[in-house]
Amino acid sequence: MRLFIAINFNDMTRARLIALRDELRDKAVYGRFSPSENLHLTLAFLGESDAKQTAAAKAVMDAVNFDPLIVTIGCIGRFSRGGSDIWWAGVSENKPLLNLYGDLTDKLSAAGFDLEKRKYSPHITLGREIMTEAVPRQIPAFGERVYKIDLMKSERVNGKLTYTAIHSRRCADS
Ligand code: 2AM
Repeated sequence: MRLFIAINFNDMTRARLIALRDELRDKAVYGRFSPSENLHLTLAFLGESDAKQTAAAKAVMDAVNFDPLIVTIGCIGRFSRGGSDIWWAGVSENKPLLNLYGDLTDKLSAAGFDLEKRKYSPHITLGREIMTEAVPRQIPAFGERVYKIDLMKSERVNGKLTYTAIHSRRCADS
């Protein structure tokens, strides 16, 4: 199974993300845009995992230090790919989120997962291969208090990229 650990948003935050995606889509010449139900914030990408690794990932999620934290989205940006770019909604600087990421990835590494070495840059992908005249910008901030992280399975179902939560970890006080 192809797995990742993510924060999934409530309906209100998701609606704001959908509006950002739609605005980008309206202005773009071309792009493959994230389906509404797939919008999420990745904490760790685990890749192909067998049953033993899946169990280990669940155990790590259950052991991680996790208190409620606020995620705020405050900009629109892109990863440049020569004019056919990845566009995303950016998460504002957030110490509790980085602490959660740090503890999670330390524990996943100790459990044997070979994780991305690049600096964590929290973002919600709105689309890929986007050709547009739009420019990155700050936006009026929005967000929510997060009480839950999910282990997500990524698969193609009838050709459609589908994400399904197969395990959730909630904060102690939620
Ligand atoms: P992205 O949105 O920036 O592509 C599921 O693929 C999630 O895992 C996506 O949020 C994706 O981030 C993230 N991810 C991180 N590293 C990845 C990798 N090497 N391959 C695929 N997805 C990755």
